[in-house]
Amino acid sequence: MKVTVISSSLRNHSNSEILAESFISGARAKGHDVELISLKGKHIEFCRGCLACQKTGSCPVSDDAQEIIQKMKESDVLVFASPVYYYSITGQLKTLLDRANPLYDSDYRFRDIYLLLTAAEDEITTPQKAIVTLQGWIDCFERARLKKVIFAGGVNNPAEIASSPVLKQAEEAGSQI
Ligand SMILES: Cc1cc2nc3c(=O)[nH]c(=O)nc-3n(C[C@H](O)[C@H](O)[C@H](O)COP(=O)(O)O)c2cc1C
Repeated sequence: MKVTVISSSLRNHSNSEILAESFISGARAKGHDVELISLKGKHIEFCRGCLACQKTGSCPVSDDAQEIIQKMKESDVLVFASPVYYYSITGQLKTLLDRANPLYDSDYRFRDIYLLLTAAEDEITTPQKAIVTLQGWIDCFERARLKKVIFAGGVNNPAEIASSPVLKQAEEAGSQI
């Protein structure tokens, strides 16, 4: 299956991207065609709300979002990796999801969606609003569903996740696609 992993942390040695890499290694071991797209260095403007996409099926804003959205459309599985920022997903991931509005009502291929989250705190409530935010987007794509959330709390410094047992969980989830 074609799996697109979108990593939304912009920092080096990102915990959420390390979590994504574990997921990817599990998925690749099973022969899936996996592409990791980091939003680092990408130029992605905000959705302007013009709704031209509802008439034309494409976005008039020409930037890096165009190619990413096309790859999302053609994937069987989407994986979003994000640090928890103010109890939600990153602004850069939310911006991409808004820009993916041309996919609404399209013949998008994706079905299963995974969310990989990291945060400094490790409470049951820490990831909840991030999950709800992504679920709000998924709810608008009726053939898609949130298959699994993997949350690594208690990690704050870059690469602090490296010894976390949650990496194994992510690898297993990737191998079970
Ligand atoms: C702007 C900002 C907001 C954050 N908000 C939260 C938060 O609400 N709750 C929390 O537990 N951690 C919060 N953190 C900590 C990050 O989630 C944590 O450091 C995470 O491991 C970073 O992942 P990354 O290395 O992939 O960027 C915040 C960090 C930043 C920079």
